[in-house]
Amino acid sequence: MPSNNPLLKPETEEHIHHLLSKMTVDEKIGQTNQYMARGFFDADLIRKGLAGSLINASGALTGQGTSRSSSADVCNDIQKLAFESRLKIPQLFGRDVIHGYRTVFPIPLAQAASWNPDLARQAASIAAREATSDGIKWTFAPMVDIARDPRWGRVAEGAGEDTYLGCQMAAAVVQGFQGECMSNPENLVACAKHYVGYGVAEGGRDYDGGELSEPTLRDVYLPPFHAAVDAGVGTLMSAFLDLNGVPATANRRLLTDVLRGEWGFKGFVVSDWESVHELINHGVAADDGEAAALAFHAGVDMDMISQAYLNHMAANLDSGKVSMDELDEAVLRILRIKHLAGLFENPFTDLNRSNRDILMPSSREFARHFARECMVLLKNQDDILPLTDAFKNILVAGPLVHAQGEMLGTWAPDGRPADVTPLSEALKAAAPAGVQLRFAAHVDRAIEAAHASDLIVLVMGEHPRRSGENANVTDLGLPPGQAEWVDAICAIGKPVVLVVLAGRPLAITRQVQQAHAVLYAWHPGIEGGGALGDVLFGKASPGGRLPITFPRATGQVPIYYNHKNTGRPITADGDFKTRYVDCPSAPLFPFGYGLTYTYFAYANLSSRGEMNNGSIQFSAEITNCGPRPGAEVVQFYTRDVTASLARPIRELKGFQRITLQPGETRKVTFSLHREDLAFTISDGRKVCEPGIFHVWIAPNSSSGLQGQFIL
Ligand code: NOJ
Repeated sequence: MPSNNPLLKPETEEHIHHLLSKMTVDEKIGQTNQYMARGFFDADLIRKGLAGSLINASGALTGQGTSRSSSADVCNDIQKLAFESRLKIPQLFGRDVIHGYRTVFPIPLAQAASWNPDLARQAASIAAREATSDGIKWTFAPMVDIARDPRWGRVAEGAGEDTYLGCQMAAAVVQGFQGECMSNPENLVACAKHYVGYGVAEGGRDYDGGELSEPTLRDVYLPPFHAAVDAGVGTLMSAFLDLNGVPATANRRLLTDVLRGEWGFKGFVVSDWESVHELINHGVAADDGEAAALAFHAGVDMDMISQAYLNHMAANLDSGKVSMDELDEAVLRILRIKHLAGLFENPFTDLNRSNRDILMPSSREFARHFARECMVLLKNQDDILPLTDAFKNILVAGPLVHAQGEMLGTWAPDGRPADVTPLSEALKAAAPAGVQLRFAAHVDRAIEAAHASDLIVLVMGEHPRRSGENANVTDLGLPPGQAEWVDAICAIGKPVVLVVLAGRPLAITRQVQQAHAVLYAWHPGIEGGGALGDVLFGKASPGGRLPITFPRATGQVPIYYNHKNTGRPITADGDFKTRYVDCPSAPLFPFGYGLTYTYFAYANLSSRGEMNNGSIQFSAEITNCGPRPGAEVVQFYTRDVTASLARPIRELKGFQRITLQPGETRKVTFSLHREDLAFTISDGRKVCEPGIFHVWIAPNSSSGLQGQFIL
């Protein structure tokens, strides 16, 4: 046993093996069953030790009240039932704590736009403190699926299209939830999901399958999961989709050979919601018994709510489809996480905690700061932002102008609209003295008021229900009616600042041309209104850079920066280059793009070292040549120019966020090691091939200073 594995502790191993030796077959099966009460709460199931975990425990589900939220008293009461069971194995209470609990932070895609994993770590840590105070000990986050198609609604829940950035965010969020030690009562067990390839969803349709080559699977989609495992994540969730024809919940090669064999993962895997049962719909199992055998043998240790394991494991053991060794192994994995989570020592939650831990002023203040750091300034003609007192009468208009709960975003089941200051009120509070704000949520009223205003802030975008699970779209334009709004207001001829609230990149090509400034605020969370006011009026600068490519038109997707060159790239001579005849090839905004309230110049790319001696460093000087202090995300890309397989035209290998005063210059250095250049070839082997490599130190994925080296 490798002693440096974060999930292997001698005292834990001793405890769980001893416990296993005392368990009956039924009790073992019980640990693999995640229970959700539907209409009727089966207390006996818990008393008999036939449920290893509960999902969404709440008064409404147990019949103790009407609240659908979890609370410490409900969880403690259920835990008492677990302690009436023969072996007193504690319950593990699971719930989706995705981008905050009561203090709701920006959606995960927005968090990635901060290019600041440390902020994401802090947000997860606050969410963990809040959620555990209500008895929850396990969250189904982070979602670390790579997403290259913004039609897919769940693009909102991940870190976007890039593997390197995705790995940084995955590790940070796991660390934030789990802390130094999962057993701390204020930490949650994390769950990296959805293993693996879920974002491939053909046509952007959630739950749909897809195909991935072995190199793309290993180099693009698997690394964020590996990063989560290396960060010590306790659990993983299997995905709904079928990948290359094999449903993820039945994929033994990926769940067992890769995850456990190659990466040494010692935690447990839970299925997604009924995804064991859904193997029947996939057409790989005839009934729940077969589905249970397939999923379990593949390496899914716990069945989320379908009860296929509970009802069929015994028969599968009898028939030999599942062995007792396999069952023991799965139970040990589940008990290991329960032990590491401190549940045997601290099964109950202190009832006084939630009053203290939920919605702390410092948490809200942090949420406001984080939201500002996630907002991406896409256009700022004539430096119209931040707004000065030259604009005394400002109209704020659009269907989302009074957004309240809508600011929270897609996965905020415990966020409360009443905790959110409506956008219009928050903007009023943030506006400097002497600036008059008026609001219009209806277009006729807005047109009338616009004539009497100095400037119009248009707030457009998506309702959060239009993004997230199964909220897929065929049209990435603004939701119906909104483009007409923008047309009508822009036709008046006053300066227009467009603010977009959304869970995905929207194809706002026309609106970007029309408006003087465009600020992408995503779904910014509980303090989104105040944060937006801070940015519009210059109390803070927008801190974000795009974690995903913005297409000009829906028909361009999938579109992502790290694509292959093709034999006829756009840069080639001649007519027959890769292109559309009705749309430029380039995206509207490239990955990594974003402006702020000052300007940066890049100069003097230089290198030190020699890759053939193991590593090479590249540096560049970045100067703030604008009038204000500001933060820049300096990005480092490479390209393997000639290899045995076609390689991406650029790949992100590093980034640094620096803050510079006006006139200040800073030298930024990136180190590159041989293994950073490795890639997977068709037979699954990782290789590093000699040759020429290009590098860029750049403000985004389509520009920058270019150099090269030879390996
Ligand atoms: C289904 C979703 O796919 C998954 O992400 C979530 O964690 C589970 N439901 C539990 O709510």
